[in-house]
Amino acid sequence: MFAGNQEISVKRVYSRKRSRDVLKTHLTPARKRGEVTCSQQCPQTWRLNSIMADGQAVEFYSDSEDLFGDYDSLLQDSSLLAKLDDAEHNERQRDVRRSAADQPDFTALRTSKDAVWKPSREDVLTDSILDALGDEPFEDLPPSQRQFQEQVCENVKRSRLQDGGKTSTPLRNTDGPSEPGTERNLEDKRQPKARRSVADQLKRTMLCNAAAPANVSRTVALKEAVVSEEISVAMQAMETVSAETTDLGPFFGLPTKVKDLMYKLRGIESLYDWQETCLNLDCVQQRKNLIYSLPTSGGKTLVAEILILRELLCRKKDCLFILPYISLVQEKVRGLASFGLELDFMVEEYAGSKGKFPPVKRRNSRSLYIATIEKAHSLVNSLIETSRIEDLGLVVVDELHMLGDGSRGAVIEMTLSKVLYMSKATQIIGMSATLGNIEDLQTFLRAENYTNDFRPVQLKEYVKLQDTIYEVDQKEEECFRFSRPLNFKYSSAMQKIDPDHIIALVTEVIPTHSCLVFCPTKKNCENVAGMICKYLKEEFLRLREAEKAVLLRELRDSGNGSVCPVLRKTVPYGLAYHHSGLTSEERKLVEEAYSNGVLCLLTCTSTLAAGINLPARRVILRSPYVATDFLKRSQYKQMVGRAGRAGIDTVGESILILQDKDRDMAKTLVCAPMENCFSNLMHDDGKGILSLILSLIGLNITTSEDQLREFLGGTLLYVQQKRMCVEKSLWEVVQQCVHLLKEKGLITVAPDANGQTLQVTKLGKATYKGSVDLTYSDVLYKDLSKGLEGLLLNSCLHLVYLVTPYDMVSQCKPDWMTFFRQFTLLSAAEQKMSAAVGVPESFVARKAAGQTVKKSVNMEVARRMYLALVLLSLLKETNLWSVADKFQLSRGFVQTLLSSSSAFCSCVLHFTEELEEFWPFKALLTELTRRLSYCVKAELIPLMEVAGVMEARAKQLYNAGYKTPTHLANADPAVLSKTIENLYKKQAEQIVASAKMMSLCVPDACE
Ligand SMILES: Nc1ncnc2c1ncn2[C@@H]1O[C@H](COP(=O)(O)OP(=O)(O)OP(=O)(O)O)[C@@H](O)[C@H]1O
Ligand SMILES: [Mg+2]
Repeated sequence: MFAGNQEISVKRVYSRKRSRDVLKTHLTPARKRGEVTCSQQCPQTWRLNSIMADGQAVEFYSDSEDLFGDYDSLLQDSSLLAKLDDAEHNERQRDVRRSAADQPDFTALRTSKDAVWKPSREDVLTDSILDALGDEPFEDLPPSQRQFQEQVCENVKRSRLQDGGKTSTPLRNTDGPSEPGTERNLEDKRQPKARRSVADQLKRTMLCNAAAPANVSRTVALKEAVVSEEISVAMQAMETVSAETTDLGPFFGLPTKVKDLMYKLRGIESLYDWQETCLNLDCVQQRKNLIYSLPTSGGKTLVAEILILRELLCRKKDCLFILPYISLVQEKVRGLASFGLELDFMVEEYAGSKGKFPPVKRRNSRSLYIATIEKAHSLVNSLIETSRIEDLGLVVVDELHMLGDGSRGAVIEMTLSKVLYMSKATQIIGMSATLGNIEDLQTFLRAENYTNDFRPVQLKEYVKLQDTIYEVDQKEEECFRFSRPLNFKYSSAMQKIDPDHIIALVTEVIPTHSCLVFCPTKKNCENVAGMICKYLKEEFLRLREAEKAVLLRELRDSGNGSVCPVLRKTVPYGLAYHHSGLTSEERKLVEEAYSNGVLCLLTCTSTLAAGINLPARRVILRSPYVATDFLKRSQYKQMVGRAGRAGIDTVGESILILQDKDRDMAKTLVCAPMENCFSNLMHDDGKGILSLILSLIGLNITTSEDQLREFLGGTLLYVQQKRMCVEKSLWEVVQQCVHLLKEKGLITVAPDANGQTLQVTKLGKATYKGSVDLTYSDVLYKDLSKGLEGLLLNSCLHLVYLVTPYDMVSQCKPDWMTFFRQFTLLSAAEQKMSAAVGVPESFVARKAAGQTVKKSVNMEVARRMYLALVLLSLLKETNLWSVADKFQLSRGFVQTLLSSSSAFCSCVLHFTEELEEFWPFKALLTELTRRLSYCVKAELIPLMEVAGVMEARAKQLYNAGYKTPTHLANADPAVLSKTIENLYKKQAEQIVASAKMMSLCVPDACE
């Protein structure tokens, strides 16, 4: 009736459907029950899933799934044991036909069985075929089955007896098949049990089988061999299918538990329409690469998280989630740790100095790596190097438009190009706010695109010109439509102090609602916060008074007794400033207080817009400038996008304060189409492409210029080549880079039969492995070599000097008097070391005295030494405030110096690991990285390794008796939150979850 191929199509669909159903029936009866209920609740999801399955049958299903159909029917239509009987029968027939001399060799079969049977921790003898057998009298079975089953039971009994009365944790069997490690009472197995999964039964059977003594009768051995082979095939088929199964339940292919967790941990009851649509897109179901773009606060992250969970749980692959800032990585690690604990996957942090290369290979669980842009690149490199890149099922890039962001953009491009080239099966998903040239990114990532302009809370954009508020309306010719006059009564003194009427604008919303005021400079943030306070009513002081007092105390503790005078004044009014001049600890305290409503207003620089999820009812842009540069459209969008808190506000509004002179430019700013995003591989004299080529050669991805050119054909640079007006062709660029790298001694070019073979030198390998900037790699090598000749070890000054980042040197202008004073406090050995690197006491003394210096001293080295003294002081005192004070630097600068030094220290460590001559550095730098990363008293370091725990919190925890992450992992969040002052229950839960996850992530002997 049907044409052949139609018939095939129909058959395949049924086969798949049946397989799935059968899998559910046998593997997870409880889930199946859940699914029925939820499919009624979520008919759309199911319908779309099944429509997709029907429609895509022929292309979508692989042969192995069809193959499974056969095994599926084997399990469903006749008992496995009956099949075994047949097998035994056939084998016996064959056996009879063979002569006695012609002894078959069963070792091969046994070996193949053993090879297939790899016990894992989950492979346990909880209850299984034996329990099922326990309910059925053996007499009813055919003799062959009976014989087989008796033997299986006998083996298991024997092995249980061998284990004696030992008990071990149920569900944990780390030993081989000869030691089934389940110790349940033999009586127990007679109890009727719920039917177990087919997989369990097969595994159990095989386990028993493998436990059989060697001297079994020939018939039994023969039977066993055939049986095990069949089981092996069935197991393989099942594993293949379960690996490809993308449906574990009714919540977008995930179990209902995920939905419950979303509610419990996030308060999310249902998905927005666009989120459902996006998750049900055909291209998403087919795991095609995808870029989706929505306005800020559109809820993009949730979609990515569901896709990550699908990859981890259903496809059992690792995932990489790339976020732009360390603080965001830490926030995500904290937020997803509980999901990991509940759903049994690892959440691993790759930020700052954290992250293991190559990552720990885990046999029994999957990992979600949450990484900064730089760490993600190193991670991908190490996975390629260890041939594990295909373990990575999914890479998600948040803020994909950062591809256009200088050297960091270049790193994203390198990472994604490598994934695209090396692992075709790895899916790539990029999230972004709306972009002008999304097509370029689509071509680069070979991705589909989904765009929607949904925003859960409507955003109204306004501008203020003189005393009038205008609404931004793109349809209006003038862009601005009159909205209202601004009501305020200012005295002439006030008018002078606040000509832009910021006080009038903020007091329309605070303290009832929250407000962010973006300012062009750091200093301006502090001034504006101070100015607003001056004119606020006394009532402001009485709101959440106790909590504000606690915040101030915490700020003081974090500064070891010092608190910023501006914050001391503004916090009692519920105001604070937020910019990179704060220490990490202060930033965290301010952010938490704002999120919890203790603070109602923050004055901030543009960094807040990109790095943190802090929304507000009203966002005010104090001027359309960042420092002296006019705002870019994307910056403006990021800032105003903070307005409108989902679930709290019904509307969000932004007000851009304009001077008449900026009116025209502002029109373009608010109404122009979104900016385009361009490749940055050629940024900074092509630093990006040079380091890309070096690592491609180092990783053996490409070993010739032709291959390099082919690789570069898959980059964003290639897509945009014409538009970016790269004067040289890609071929010329490749040749030039190869020449440069050769000149720098980072690669060698050896002629071979096919032309030339490119290889990295040891220095080249160390450079890309340590992610060391090519500009500095030879200087670093020289400095380290010189260091080895007379490394000062009774002080860490020398080591600290070696890891003081080169790129921070230019930002430092030493105060020579301070330099001299600090120099005189050094030990004789330390002074000698300083002189040895080229900064003698006489030089510093002359500079301090304002005299001219005759001897030529490299100023870069002198400045670097000054920074090293700052770091040494920090390590000794662990008090950022007093060190900043002592060296006449801002605490924000000292904080940045500390974080970049710890990151650079870990780079130098990886660099030295590749060069044998630097072996002594390994142990020294490992410890130094740790000390610089935390820079607190040694006893607090273990607590600070828990994501998001900073010094002040670590001190509180330590003093309350929680001295290690294990103590935290075992803590009750409710008790913890009661014991620790100002620790909210949710924060306590996240700390406990992170500590638990940390203890799980520690590699153990089984990994
Ligand atoms: N379906 C939902 N129901 C309720 N709240 C949601 C839902 N989806 C997301 N949210 C919440 O909305 C807020 C904003 O989401 P998210 O951070 O994902 O936005 P975004 O699109 O990434 O914005 P941005 O571009 O600013 O990063 C978060 O607090 C998130 O928990
Ligand atoms: Mg986001």
